[in-house]
Amino acid sequence: MTSIDLLVAEHRVIEKVLDAFQEAARRYAAGGECDDVSAMLRFFQTYGDAAHHEKEEQVLFPALRRHGIEPDASVLGPLSAQHASCRALVRDLHRYLDEPDSERARRAFAATTDEYAAMLRLHIALEDAFFAEVVQDEVLSPQEDDALVDAMLARDEEAFREVAKAAFERSAAAWRGRHG
Ligand SMILES: [Fe+2]
Ligand SMILES: [Fe+2]
Repeated sequence: MTSIDLLVAEHRVIEKVLDAFQEAARRYAAGGECDDVSAMLRFFQTYGDAAHHEKEEQVLFPALRRHGIEPDASVLGPLSAQHASCRALVRDLHRYLDEPDSERARRAFAATTDEYAAMLRLHIALEDAFFAEVVQDEVLSPQEDDALVDAMLARDEEAFREVAKAAFERSAAAWRGRHG
């Protein structure tokens, strides 16, 4: 598996959870339970931000910069800005979830979830297209790519210390079943 295969496989998992998250947030806004939305928010914080976005920011993007792909002159700049926006929206979602007794906060949670999902879907589409170009142009040598995969797996060990990656992926399937 190449570093880009690994990231693209995670995109598919994240997209699946986004569908379930929006549906669960709508039910939460209508007075439903918060257990699943809270667990899914943890997924986006851990699997999405701490593991996935950080592998891009700290491992792949620096490698691409070493090949002259500059943030200001490529899509790398906008992609990093979107990572920051996603983190900010997750912080907002946490704040709204802290007020389960407020109808206004529940509605704001669902509206912010839709905003977050729209941004993350666009972000993923942009990355899928960009990563396909990187593969097509053979920017990374096989040896370089092996080193990137090792660095990514080492980061994952840290990010998934509390909840294993496989456990999140099993939960993703369960959420999809309940909120698909
Ligand atoms: Fe990203
Ligand atoms: Fe990504």
